[in-house]
Amino acid sequence: MPVLPIITYNDPVLRAETKALEKNSGELQSLIDDMFETMYNSSGVGLAAPQIGKSLQLFVMDADAVTEELEDEEDLGPMVFINPEIIEVKGEKVRMEEGCLSIPDLRDEIVRPDVTVVKFRDREFNEQTIEVSGWVSRVIQHEYDHLAGKLFIDYLSAFRRRLHKSLLKKIDSGKIEVDYPLAPKSD
Ligand code: NI
Repeated sequence: MPVLPIITYNDPVLRAETKALEKNSGELQSLIDDMFETMYNSSGVGLAAPQIGKSLQLFVMDADAVTEELEDEEDLGPMVFINPEIIEVKGEKVRMEEGCLSIPDLRDEIVRPDVTVVKFRDREFNEQTIEVSGWVSRVIQHEYDHLAGKLFIDYLSAFRRRLHKSLLKKIDSGKIEVDYPLAPKSD
């Protein structure tokens, strides 16, 4: 199972429209394996297909490394979300720090509703609907955004973005070094 290079800001593939998956296949199963391998290798808790250059409605998540440290959080283990659809977000608005493997070294606080109701197909292509809150809810909202070409920094105020301007420029020009493989810049 190879570790795949991660696409970084500001590659257009992170903003591209994504396609629903029509059927399960051996190819899809190995892509999912590779995505988990890539996510664990970079110590991430979630990874969306556009981040490895695939414009597909697919993301993987394993937030246990975080939820094991938190009280009142369920450890869901590795999960696959195929063709996810967020039915509802609700609850208290929570401010928490986020990061993204495609935007290395940049962390900032983002406000999101606490609860997510999401319908999706699991790894076996069975339809499931779950309601989650807390950290996993946040991860699901973050990864789901990736499938709509949205990045967490899009939520930042103009002021906060300006604070990150030089780091974003550095990432965009491929001059950032991290301990996981990054895709080369296309231009
Ligand atoms: Ni991300």
